[in-house]
Order: sequence, then structure tokens, then C-alpha cells
Amino acid sequence: MQTTDLNLQDEQKELLLSVRDLTVSFSVDDGTFTAADSISFDVKTGETVGLVGESGCGKSVTALSIPRLIPSPPGTIESGEIWFEGQDLMTLNSSALRDIRGRDISMIFQEPLSALSPLHRIGQQMIETILLHQDKPRKQAWEIAEGWLKKVGIPDAGDRMFAYPFQLSGGMQQRIMIAMALMLSPRLIIADEPTTALDVTTQAQIFALIRDMKQHQTSMLLITHDMGVVWEMCDRILVMYASRIVETGSREDVFFNPRHPYTIGLLQAIPKLTGLREPLKDIPGQVPSPFDYPKGCHFQARCVFAMDRCRESSPPAYDCGQGHRAACFLMEGRPA
Ligand SMILES: Nc1ncnc2c1ncn2[C@@H]1O[C@H](COP(=O)(O)OP(=O)(O)O)[C@@H](O)[C@H]1O
Ligand SMILES: [Mg+2]
Repeated sequence: MQTTDLNLQDEQKELLLSVRDLTVSFSVDDGTFTAADSISFDVKTGETVGLVGESGCGKSVTALSIPRLIPSPPGTIESGEIWFEGQDLMTLNSSALRDIRGRDISMIFQEPLSALSPLHRIGQQMIETILLHQDKPRKQAWEIAEGWLKKVGIPDAGDRMFAYPFQLSGGMQQRIMIAMALMLSPRLIIADEPTTALDVTTQAQIFALIRDMKQHQTSMLLITHDMGVVWEMCDRILVMYASRIVETGSREDVFFNPRHPYTIGLLQAIPKLTGLREPLKDIPGQVPSPFDYPKGCHFQARCVFAMDRCRESSPPAYDCGQGHRAACFLMEGRPA
């Protein structure tokens, strides 16, 4: 009995983030649509979870919902629980949320200027962020900030501390935003296509830094188009299609034993990991518009295995064993 309790405690301690049944809609001129539909997933302490899927499927909306950064209007979090270190972020007031953002959860966006103020010098912004969350002398905050600029590969870091964002290149701004996201040693980093604007060498440098942080128990939700990056960085993978998670599993299970027809198509559409570059194969058909998501499985129109029941009802997430799940009726009755 006691052992069971201890195991349970251990399991709970390991869990950093639990998103449950998150549904987000947008109301625009043409009507209302659901951008994230009953999304549930976990991120454990020290784990990197990859979130993949075609453009527009709801990855950024899912990521922005966690620290409650969905713009409202037009967005509405219709339902859901977002458990982070034992509290449901959905129930927190804005000042409690502000404390958590930056200190415990930090975001790296696709667009660096959304995170940097155009009005203040880089150094000023960085030390203000540090001093907001940590009780340190100003001089020490300055040294920490400058140290992080060096770590993300900014040349002449001491001078750059006095620059304004507009005086720096896009790649440089991106690196500064990454430095700001990492410097407070957050528990969770939410990185939305973090290195898209960076050259391959800088990308490798940033991922080495992030990998290093993992050893300090930092967890990450990583959104990327690059399946090579997913393979290199992620422990587990969430595959999204048209507002829903269709498959989840360990990196190995998803790459080598994909179960959802969409995941199979997605993996066939990427160049082989062996480095032999093959022409990209597209998954036949179009992603439906969010206004026209069909009844039943959202992938049905592009799925070569689609059956009548796929057009009638939405498949639940079937257990394929060891935390591997796929939302496809083909999995029904298969031994886990
Ligand atoms: N602020 C917004 N206002 C209206 N629609 C939005 C907004 N943000 C996202 N969407 C819509 O929600 C859907 C999911 O978007 P997003 O999560 O950004 O996709 P992605 O998977 O490419 O990150 C898309 O149809 C997108 O156009
Ligand atoms: Mg996005």
C-alpha cells in the first residue's frame, strides 16, 4: 500500500504540465471556428515534447493558451484545465499569471519583435526582466544578462547591451529573445518555431544550450516544422491535424511505428533522416478550412482507409501501448 502511494507521489511530482480538454475558438467576420479541439497532453519534468503538424492546425494556439496569451477577442478559451505545478492556470488572476510567465514559463516566439520592446535598450530590458523576478543587485543582473548574450553567440555582447532592437538583424533579435527566455531558468520553455530565422550553426548552438538546460530539469514544448530537429531534441511527440491531436507517443514509437494515417503521411512527406535528400512527397488532398471541419474524423477526406464510421463520429484516442495513442478507428480492438 505504502509503495503504491510513493509511486503515485513520484508520478505526480514528475508531471510538470497537464493540459486537459482545452478547446479554443475564434470569432471573426466570417463566423466562429474551433482552432484547438479538446486538446489533452502532459509534459514531465525535464522532458522535451515536440508538437508537429501542418500550418494552421492549431499548434501556436495550443501553445499560447498555456500561459493564457490568446488574444481575446477574437479568441475564447471555451473549456479546459491547464495544470502547472499543481495549480490550474485557468483559475489564476492576471497578477498571478504575470508572475508565472517569464519566471516559470517562458516563451520563444516565431517573431522576436513581439517579445522585445522597441523603446528600450537590450541590456535595460534584460535586467528589468531579471529584477522583476529575482532579488539581485543591478550590477549582478547586468553581468547575468551579458553572460547570456555571449552564450547565445552574440558577438561584442558588452556593446550590444546598449543597442535598441531595431539596430540588430532579425537573427540577432531572435537570439536575444532566446537569451531572455532562458536566463531565468524557467521550469517550462514554450518554443514556437524558435530557430526558423537562424542559420544552421546558430541553430545547433541554441539547441545545445537548450539541451544543457534539460539537465537542470527544464522542460520544453517545442513546435517545429523540422522533423530532424524533432528527432534530435524531443523525447515525446504530439501530432496535430486540423485542431486535434491525432497521435502521441515516444519519439521512437511515432517515427518508427506511426499508427495514425496522417502521421504516416507526414513522415513519408519528409526527407529521410539518413541525410539522403529525397523529393518531398505531399499528402494528397487539402487541409480543410477551420470553418469546414467535417463531422467525424477531420482527416477522413484525405485518408485512404476512411470508412463510413469515420464520417459519423470522431475516433477516441486508442491506447497502442506505453503511452502511445492514436485517434483512429483502425486501432480499435488492436492489442495495445
Ligand atoms: N488571433 C487570431 N485571430 C483569428 N484567427 C486566428 C488567430 N490566431 C490563430 N488563428 C487561426 O487559428 C487556426 C490555428 O492557427 P495556429 O495555431 O496559428 O496554427 P499553426 O499550427 O500554424 O501554429 C488558423 O486557422 C489560424 O488562422
Ligand atoms: Mg504557428
